[in-house]
Amino acid sequence: MLVMKLGVVILAAGQGKRMRSSLPKVLHLLAGRPLLQHVLEVARSLSPERITVVYGHGGEQVPQAIGAMDLSWIRQDEQRGTGDALRLALPSLHGLDQVLILYGDVPLLSLTTLSALLQSSETAPLALLTANLTDPSGYGRIIRDTVGRVMRIVEQRDAQPEELAVREVNTGIMVCEAGRLEAWLQRLRPANAQGEYYLTDIVAMAVDEGIEVETIQPEDVLEMQGVNDHLQLAWLERAYQAAQARRLMEQGVTLMDPARFDLRGQLSVGRDVVIDIDVILEGEVSLGDGVRVGAYSKIINSTLAEDVWVMEHCLIDSARIGSGCRIGPFARIRPQTELAEQVHIGNFVELKQATVGPGSKINHLSYMGDVVIGRNVNVGAGTITCNYDGAYKHVTRIGDEAFIGSDTQLVAPVSVGVGATIGAGSTITTDTPEHQLSLSRAPQTSVPGWRRPQKKPTKE
Ligand code: UD1
Ligand code: CA
Repeated sequence: MLVMKLGVVILAAGQGKRMRSSLPKVLHLLAGRPLLQHVLEVARSLSPERITVVYGHGGEQVPQAIGAMDLSWIRQDEQRGTGDALRLALPSLHGLDQVLILYGDVPLLSLTTLSALLQSSETAPLALLTANLTDPSGYGRIIRDTVGRVMRIVEQRDAQPEELAVREVNTGIMVCEAGRLEAWLQRLRPANAQGEYYLTDIVAMAVDEGIEVETIQPEDVLEMQGVNDHLQLAWLERAYQAAQARRLMEQGVTLMDPARFDLRGQLSVGRDVVIDIDVILEGEVSLGDGVRVGAYSKIINSTLAEDVWVMEHCLIDSARIGSGCRIGPFARIRPQTELAEQVHIGNFVELKQATVGPGSKINHLSYMGDVVIGRNVNVGAGTITCNYDGAYKHVTRIGDEAFIGSDTQLVAPVSVGVGATIGAGSTITTDTPEHQLSLSRAPQTSVPGWRRPQKKPTKE
C-alpha cells in the first residue's frame, strides 16, 4: 500500500434554511454532539495530515463552538457553491496527495466506508461515494455510458427527464488526487440553473482527460443521509440510537425497550446490566456488573460500581457511586458526590458535593450539601444541611455511627461527633460531642381545660 498524504475538507458553510434556526445547521445536536463533531470524529480516525473546515453561515459561531486546535478554518462569506468552497480550501492543502471531501451535515459515515473509498482512490485520481435510492429526488445523478463508465454528474435542476429517472445519486463525498484538483477547480464556471460553482463538474473534466472515475457505495444508505430539517435530524437520531442500543445488547446489556433508550456519549458496561425504559445516559458513564437503572432516570458523567440499583426517576450528575448502593426513586445526586459501598439514598433526597461513608442511609426528604458523612450513619427524614449563609458555603461533618433524628437542621459549619445522636426536630448550630444525645427543642407543654374555638350558631 502506498503511503499517501491525506487532507480532509469538510464543507460546512451552508445556511440550512429549512432548520429555521439561528444556530448554524452543523451545530445542531445528534446524540448530544454537534453534527460537525461527528464528521470530525470519523475524519480524525483516518489520521489525515490536515483537516480543513469551510464555514460561513452563522459567522464565528461554528469555530467557536468546536474550538479544536487540530483544524484549519476557512471562511466562505458568500455561499457560491461546493466548487467555490473547495477552491477556498485549496491553499490549506499544499503538499498533500489526496483530498477527501466530506459534508458537515452528513454525520453517520462509517470508517469502513471511508476506508473503502480511500482504497479505491489509490488506483483512480477520482473516486465517488454513490448510492442507489428508490427516491433520488433532490440529489445529483450519476450519468454513466452504455458500458457503465461514469461520464458526469448532473444536478436535479439541470437534468433532462431521462436523467431524472437515474436512481444512482451523488452523495457528495469524494476523494480526489490533490495535484489535479487545482486545475479542475480553476475551470469551474457557474453556467447552470443555480448560478453556482458545482464541484460535481470536475467529474466530466476528469473523464475528458481519460480518467476512469471509481465509485463505491456505503454499507448502509443511512451513512450518506444529510440533515436538512428537523424531521431528518430526528430520524437520524433514532437510527443512531438504535445502532448504539444494538451494540449494547450484543455486549450483554438488557434494554427493556431499545427504542426508548438514549446514549449521548460513551458508555462502558459490565455484565448483566439492566436498563429500564426512557433512560438517558450522557457524557462518560460507566456501569459495573449487575447495575440496574430504573425507568425515567438520567445519568451524566458518572461511575456506578457493581450491583448499584438506581430506581425510577433519578438524576445522577458527575458522581461516583460505590458497590451495592441503592438510589431513589426520585433522588437527585449532584456533582462531586462520592458514595462508598452499600449507601442508601431514598426518595426526594438531594445530595451536593457529599462524601458518604459505607453503609450510611439517607432515605427520605433530605438535602445534604457540602457534607462529609462517616460510616453507618442514619440521617432521618427531612434533615437539612444549612450550608449557605448567603455569602459562603460551609461544610457539615457527621461522624461514624451517628444518628440524626428526623427534621434536623445542621447549620454549617458544624460537626456531629462519632456515635452522637441528635434528637428529632433540632436546630444544631454548634459541634455536638461523641456518643451523647444532643437536642435543641422547646419544652413541650399542654394546656389543661383548653377548648377549640367554635362557631356560634347562626340565627334564622
Ligand atoms: C450537493 C451536490 C449533489 C449531491 C448533494 C448530496 C453539488 C453541486 N451538488 O448538492 O450532487 O447529490 O450535495 O447532498 O455539489 N456548502 C458550502 N458552501 C457552499 C455550498 C455548499 O460549504 O457554497 C456545503 C453545505 O454546507 C453542505 C454541502 O456543502 O454541507 C452541500 O451543500 P448543499 O447545498 O446541501 O448541496 P446540494 O445542492 O444539496
Ligand atoms: Ca444538502
